[in-house]
Amino acid sequence: MRIILLGPPGAGKGTQAKRLSKEFGLSHISTGDILRKNVLEVTQLGVQAKDYMERGLLVPDDLVSQMITQRFSQPDVRNGFLLDGYPRNINQAETLEQVFLKENLSIDFVIYLDTSEKTVLQRLTGRRVCSNCGLIFHIKNMPPKKAGICDACLGALYQRNDDNEETVKKRLEVYEKEVSPLLEYYEVRHKLHRLSGDEDAEIVLNKIISLVSAN
Ligand code: AP5
Repeated sequence: MRIILLGPPGAGKGTQAKRLSKEFGLSHISTGDILRKNVLEVTQLGVQAKDYMERGLLVPDDLVSQMITQRFSQPDVRNGFLLDGYPRNINQAETLEQVFLKENLSIDFVIYLDTSEKTVLQRLTGRRVCSNCGLIFHIKNMPPKKAGICDACLGALYQRNDDNEETVKKRLEVYEKEVSPLLEYYEVRHKLHRLSGDEDAEIVLNKIISLVSAN
């Protein structure tokens, strides 16, 4: 199964991707996670990407496209994947189509988690992420059993640099500018499925499972 998850920052793409990858044994490919790892490891890509990420802007397409081309040349993607955070614009969607052509892959579902701005702001300002395993929490919606500690691996939880109100607003602005053409791109290809991202995480998960199981 090959799925693209679309939606605004905080729609729950990462949360759902982690659960679905476990449920179906798929690789979770998150461009945000790959970029953050590069920033942390101070690689050449990380150094180039850091400033854009901190300002809530998109990292230039050529950098991200190189990264995605490399990721899709790895063998695990053949067993299915969840793509989270890519593509973000038409240029990236076209690059992805070229990569798929080269690797003889195709997409089964593009799932758009349609989520209100109010929800997004509440979710992102309360998000905490495990610095060790990447599990995602929320101080109110999905609190860890022990404050600041990951339930799964006891790693320390941290707040992302770009999860402050000012940067979140910029990320939403960038997202709004690009999303309509992207949705249309997949709509005309009969791949797009729209679900509400405002609902409880379990409800969203079950709706995605029903959707992919019925098709
Ligand atoms: P990226 O990491 O991809 O961030 P994003 O797209 O802004 O999305 P988020 O990770 O913020 O949100 P999410 O939808 O995954 O929500 P989550 O599940 O965590 O990108 C970061 C930056 O990297 C970009 O700004 C850009 O600079 C760069 N970048 C990445 N990809 C790029 C690309 N392709 N091109 C160029 N630049 C790129 O959930 C959020 C919170 O809500 C959590 O606390 C969670 O516990 C909670 N929650 C989730 N679902 C629910 C629910 N249903 N009910 C209640 N709470 C919920």
